[in-house]
Amino acid sequence: MPTSKRETVEKTTGKKASPAVMSQAQASQRIEELTDLVHHHDFQYYVLDDPQLSDAAYDLLYRELVELETRYPELRRPDSPTKRVGGIALEKFNKIKHRAPMLSLANALSEEEFKAFDERVHRFLDLPDNQTLEYYAELKFDGLSVNLTYEKGELAYAATRGDGETGEEVTHNIRTIRSVPLRLKTKTPPKLIEIRGEVVLPIAAFEKLNEEQAKRGQKLFANPRNAAAGSIRQLDPNIAAARPLTAFWYGVGQVEMDGKARPPFTAMSEYQEQLSQWGFRIGPHRQICKGVNDVLKFYRKIESERDKLPFEIDGVVIKLNRLIDIDRAGYVSRSPRGMIAFKYPPRQETTTVEDILVQVGRTGALTPVAMVSPVKLGGATVRRATLHNQDEIDRKDIRIGDQVFIQRAGDVIPEVVRVITEARTGKEKKFKLPDHCPVCNSRVERNPGEAVVRCTNHNCIAQVKERIRHFVMKDAMNVEGMGERIVEELIDNQMIKSYADIFRLKKDHFLKLEGFADKSSQKLIDAIDAARKPELYRLIFGLGIRHVGERTAKTLANHFGDIDSFFGVSADQFEQIHEIGPEVARSLNEYFTDKDNLKELKELLKFVEPKAPKRGTGAGKLVGKTVVLTGTFPTLSRTDATKLVEEHGGKVSSSVSKKTDFVVAGEEAGSKLEKAQALGVRVIDEDALLKMLA
Ligand code: IVH
Repeated sequence: MPTSKRETVEKTTGKKASPAVMSQAQASQRIEELTDLVHHHDFQYYVLDDPQLSDAAYDLLYRELVELETRYPELRRPDSPTKRVGGIALEKFNKIKHRAPMLSLANALSEEEFKAFDERVHRFLDLPDNQTLEYYAELKFDGLSVNLTYEKGELAYAATRGDGETGEEVTHNIRTIRSVPLRLKTKTPPKLIEIRGEVVLPIAAFEKLNEEQAKRGQKLFANPRNAAAGSIRQLDPNIAAARPLTAFWYGVGQVEMDGKARPPFTAMSEYQEQLSQWGFRIGPHRQICKGVNDVLKFYRKIESERDKLPFEIDGVVIKLNRLIDIDRAGYVSRSPRGMIAFKYPPRQETTTVEDILVQVGRTGALTPVAMVSPVKLGGATVRRATLHNQDEIDRKDIRIGDQVFIQRAGDVIPEVVRVITEARTGKEKKFKLPDHCPVCNSRVERNPGEAVVRCTNHNCIAQVKERIRHFVMKDAMNVEGMGERIVEELIDNQMIKSYADIFRLKKDHFLKLEGFADKSSQKLIDAIDAARKPELYRLIFGLGIRHVGERTAKTLANHFGDIDSFFGVSADQFEQIHEIGPEVARSLNEYFTDKDNLKELKELLKFVEPKAPKRGTGAGKLVGKTVVLTGTFPTLSRTDATKLVEEHGGKVSSSVSKKTDFVVAGEEAGSKLEKAQALGVRVIDEDALLKMLA
């Protein structure tokens, strides 16, 4: 070891580096010191961005620790920084149920929408319009959301958000992120705490990673978020360890304290101060805002600085600062009403339309797609942009050869915003959608009042491919391992052409496909078998009914309880269901009365037996009922009351309407109570609710 480096170490530690011979007690003491020191310098470097040591000096400390731990493995601390890396690949991800669900956020896409949110919050809290609310404003990180569970201050496990209830265990990868504390920096940690945040890959690291992927001939990541998610959702921790991931922590889920101690927060602002003290990296640009104007100032300031940030954000998040207010404002569709994602308009770029192709979707819709000269947009390279339909093309007068502005909004496929007509040369070519399906050559038709043209052949190969691809995907029937390519090959080889056919597949079918061996074929057969008893909502979502997303599918499954009850229901009847609007109701009725759909579905039901939705402990006393909560209850918090209603199969809604079955009113109930009385909706108190459900 060169003398100068040894001196640096001695200076920073006040001790000499370990001699070759030392007693167990000396080793133990030195390991303690080194573990704390490396953690301290990791914290300075990765969390505070403020290193106090040269890289070389740090390396010496680290290596000394590794050496000592190798000599005395029994002295290695469970939170040793050397335990972050070099784990072994897992066989598969474990599922982890979050103690408190990971919710999502509603969006505001303009200043008007934010103002409307503020007005709504006033209403939910029964406050006069002129009262200024205190909000906590921060960045909306564009990454992968993760939950960390610390037990007695030690990182016990980490999981992805998953569906909000259950995620995949990714502890092995999260441990490799140096800014994640393996142990909370406190002598009095909570018995258990869930910490929520976002794992991100800085833009520079993302670009470098994609360059390397290209060199190795591997798939490029679409954007930094996908790259972060792709790095964490890996069985082999060496992949995450090799990528400079970081994370920002902003929230807390379940907290369990020892004895009578109370959780140390009452406000959002305190969350992050506490997280920071415990050693977590928290985002820059956090601010308490008094009222709408302060928030708008914050929003505009961050927008002007957005391009200078080293990582991607897609907006700011605005939260009622007082936790009690968030609870009081309540929750709708798995989002707290007292928080909102205030998004920035999508980024735009210019490019050239090189060609226009036609895609045939799951419902037969013919979608024109512009193939554009590759251009970077919001951290990703764009090569195609949707043109939606012929009306859009005509309205924007988009021609092949045109220079255009394109934009992307979050996850959505980029779209053409407008043509730069000044740049026209006269050589641009107009485009018309074909009057026959480009895939199966069948007639296309356009329903009155709709802009979309559809292929009329239910068995069109393009439709079948898209339908089956959707049907087997993770959030639908979840046939694990049956990706896009396999579906395509099965269809191209005429092995399947309907949902039911999937369940007729035998191992031999897969063995005939390229790249399949005995084990991989068996795995798919097992995955198909596992999908024979899906939860009802998975089947409903999997059918790919227009406008029926996963959440709507859950609502419908909870309402009907079994698939037979969907047949013969009129659009009006569908619309009576809470959260089902007229467009969805019409689409459902169309689906369940179309003879091709019914034939395919009935055939499928010979192989598949959907499971009735779980009704929680309450055995469904409130199934199909819509309940509104207002005011403060004597014993139940808002969250508990909501949970209780949902456990009994009911739905909690934010506003009183004719569809409301009853209102539970507590003290200081305001406008909602008045509205219920005006509409003649039944009003009960907490006691009556508890008796009803007892
Ligand atoms: S708070 C109720 N704060 O945005 C959910 N979320 O659209 C509480 N996100 O799933 C989330 N930055 O993954 C919160 N500063 C921030 C955030 C943030 C990014 C993500 C988060 C969430 C999604 C909701």
